[in-house]
Amino acid sequence: MRQYRIRGGKRLSGELSIGGAKNSVLPILAAACLNESETIIHNCPRISDTLETIKILEGIGFRTEFLENTLKIYPAKDLSHEIPDECVKKMRSSILFMGALLAQTGKVNLALPGGCNLGERAINLHIRGLEAMGAKICEEEKKLFCKIGENGLNGAKIKLDFPSVGATENLLIAAVKAKGETVIENAAREPEISDLALFLKKLGAEIRGAGTGTIIINGTNKNFRKKIAHEIIPDRIVAGTYLVAAAMTTGDIKLTNVRPFELAPFTMYLSEMGCNLRAEENSVTLHAPKRLKAAGRIITKVHPGFLTDMQAQFVAALSIADKRSEITETIFEGRNSHVPELRKMGANIHLTADKQTFEIDGVERLRGANVAAHDLRCGAALVLAALSADGETIVQNSEFVERGYESIEKDLTSLGGDIKLEIV
Ligand code: EPU
Repeated sequence: MRQYRIRGGKRLSGELSIGGAKNSVLPILAAACLNESETIIHNCPRISDTLETIKILEGIGFRTEFLENTLKIYPAKDLSHEIPDECVKKMRSSILFMGALLAQTGKVNLALPGGCNLGERAINLHIRGLEAMGAKICEEEKKLFCKIGENGLNGAKIKLDFPSVGATENLLIAAVKAKGETVIENAAREPEISDLALFLKKLGAEIRGAGTGTIIINGTNKNFRKKIAHEIIPDRIVAGTYLVAAAMTTGDIKLTNVRPFELAPFTMYLSEMGCNLRAEENSVTLHAPKRLKAAGRIITKVHPGFLTDMQAQFVAALSIADKRSEITETIFEGRNSHVPELRKMGANIHLTADKQTFEIDGVERLRGANVAAHDLRCGAALVLAALSADGETIVQNSEFVERGYESIEKDLTSLGGDIKLEIV
């Protein structure tokens, strides 16, 4: 078992550089299947989700070399369309290989994806969109069997019922190799979509409108064979997590290699909570107050709204704010596993009957306890709570946190936190 041992009460201060974004690198690695030449990824985070995705790439025939934060992917001689089950079951983002391999090999078989348990996490929009482009998809015994029809993949007009990040990415990857124009309406607008589009354009794809609600892809129906290098955008959620850590520990930190405008959906709430923030071109500085103020009401929304991936960390921070705050989760129906764990540390959080709204009455201080992560951001929130708490906290199941943070214990130690990763 892997766990963090954290001694709370240390004030965080200092400077830290932020690495590449998990939610950007995972779709880009799937999209790399379209390249029949070498792909070089810079600023590639060494997190366990990246390592699992590399296993998928190697499992289907690519050779890779991962040195520090540079990943080289060498073209596959014989690309397999069978994605190894054990990888897919661990990680939902493996669904992105569906669009990529359908486009590249005309076929793909994969298990229904797993990943962090955040509720139902359907894939109907992925399937419906790919079917609109001419794919034939059937499900048998928890496995998806997908192939292209006689006419291959064709451009289509697809209107998503919801701006799903994953569905937008899957369709975008498939569409660049389809015949003719694809229009994705009500597309996700997250910065990671723009990063994926930039990567695909370097390969030779023709894409307009990425980052807006309508993406237009002029399918080239040709093979991409171009040695390309791409630098992954900084991880706004890792940056946000460390800003909240500083906010909760009366800290004073500077994060470099960030894109401040991408942090605005949540830094505006940190300001409201009494933090003093200063943004420069590629950095952000936070100076925390003695006691955080309540935030009123926060509702998670798609980009550019308050992101669901920062919800748990804000629940932790508002647990020690001076009055009552409320956060409503609208993106996932089951993202609340941090609540019972934070309560063990003395947090006063009431979950409404639908389990989507957290009513948080801030307490003066949290206390150390034995708690367990149940998903990635739940784990991050518990680490933050522990840093601010009195006494010692054990956060079990650190492997969830390691899915999305390259080395949270090293980063936080460098800022003055007392946190150790233990293998017991
Ligand atoms: N949805 C459907 N049908 C679909 C697809 C999605 O109903 O076909 C629903 C989901 O059930 C969910 C909502 O739409 O309730 C949002 O799902 P979305 O597809 O937008 O999310 P995702 O692609 O599965 C990515 C990130 C998540 C992040 C969400 C929302 C990656 C690898 N994952 O997931 O990241 O929370 O977008 O922004 O990009 C995390 O980093 O902690 C994390 C979970």
